[in-house]
Amino acid sequence: MTQPGREVNGVNEIVVDRDPAALESVIHDIELHSDVLFTWDYERSRTALVKLYEKAKTSQWNASTDLPWDMLTTEPLLKQLLRYVMSDEARHVAFGVLSLREFYEGLDGKEIRERQEFAYEAAVRLRNRFMVQDVWERLGADPREVIAFLKAHPNPGQEMFQTMLFSKIVPNVRKLGLLDAGDGWLRTKFTELGIIQFEDGADTSEEYGDLDAVAADRALTTPAQVGTA
Ligand SMILES: [Fe+2]
Repeated sequence: MTQPGREVNGVNEIVVDRDPAALESVIHDIELHSDVLFTWDYERSRTALVKLYEKAKTSQWNASTDLPWDMLTTEPLLKQLLRYVMSDEARHVAFGVLSLREFYEGLDGKEIRERQEFAYEAAVRLRNRFMVQDVWERLGADPREVIAFLKAHPNPGQEMFQTMLFSKIVPNVRKLGLLDAGDGWLRTKFTELGIIQFEDGADTSEEYGDLDAVAADRALTTPAQVGTA
């Protein structure tokens, strides 16, 4: 949240003190009652979403026919499978970005601020998870000491993974207008967290076309090319 004096990059923010009994006591079933809104609007006024939908229809892939199963014993099959899964996931994220952007346009300042705070807390937790407190505890080490050490001696592999993650999240949050909405609260917070430098990366609604591995592979195997091969 927005507590004053919160040291978001400190070890005490990253490591959480957990008492298993206390955790057990707060787990309970809750009943959810929420309104569901259906709009039966078939007006094709949302160009970006329509474009994405058209792509979604043509880039459906069938694992039985679109994958070269003769590669089963080698790594290329796995590589191709993962490319297709990534292209599906990029489409899901692009759908979220495009539809949320529309939805956010209708929200007031307080509602936007709630989304900014949610995005910030989610980013803090993702960052904290990279410090794998649970692993150090399991190994019998004091997570505070290990994490203080890791912060003093950054690991390039871990930094790269963190970069890859936030280079997707920050541009999408920016595309949603959350970074600079209101008084730019989230920009300040992301700066503090050390992830603002990723804001100029491509957001997923922009780069989805490049991630469409299914369309790219099919373009390589058009009947004309197969015929001349
Ligand atoms: Fe997904």
